[in-house]
Amino acid sequence: MTQILTPDALATLFTDARTHNGWLDKPVDDALLRQAYLLARMGPTSANCCPARFVFIRSSEAKERLKPALSSGNLTKTLQAPVTAIIAYDPVFYDALPKLFPHGDARSWFTSSPELATETAFRNSSLQAAYLIIACRALGLDTGPMSGFNNTQVDEIFLAEKGWKSNLLVNIGYGDINKLYERSPRLAFDEACLVL
Ligand SMILES: Cc1cc2nc3c(=O)[nH]c(=O)nc-3n(C[C@H](O)[C@H](O)[C@H](O)COP(=O)(O)O)c2cc1C
Repeated sequence: MTQILTPDALATLFTDARTHNGWLDKPVDDALLRQAYLLARMGPTSANCCPARFVFIRSSEAKERLKPALSSGNLTKTLQAPVTAIIAYDPVFYDALPKLFPHGDARSWFTSSPELATETAFRNSSLQAAYLIIACRALGLDTGPMSGFNNTQVDEIFLAEKGWKSNLLVNIGYGDINKLYERSPRLAFDEACLVL
């Protein structure tokens, strides 16, 4: 049966969790990244298409290659972060649908419409990025998502061989609370929601 999380757990995942801009000098084990992926992959995607692909950049050599693609505001914190994940999508994600969605011929929905394929890949890989952020938080890690980078450059430098396309970057590590910006307000229920 589904259980409601404790207030502490909800704080870890949502109300206390922050977007981090500075990082402690504390490494992130590969085993933890693997665990984060294994949790994130369970989040729902349309027709279980799972279009996201994840490139975890941790070596200083790979960080140097990433550097020219970063916007100036994202440079220092990204070079400092123990890990920077490229959340990408596979434009031909539908080739895995016979395995991922064995109930029917979902592949043909996308081979017949490149627009639907691109929209689906972008929508669902964005969701999967969010699942990864929540998974990291659940495992005691902090994150810092970023769209301030040159996608074309990242695609050329890191993803060309696979043919994947970058969506966003997510810094991962143990955040330095001294580098947090002040928490910005959120919209009230009545501002953001309608109940019809
Ligand atoms: C998709 C996405 C892109 C973002 N891009 C950037 C970015 O390029 N640079 C940056 O400093 N912050 C970026 N942010 C961070 C947001 O500004 C931050 O998550 C938001 O203000 C909420 O902060 P909080 O989680 O600390 O409340 C991005 C966040 C998301 C989800």
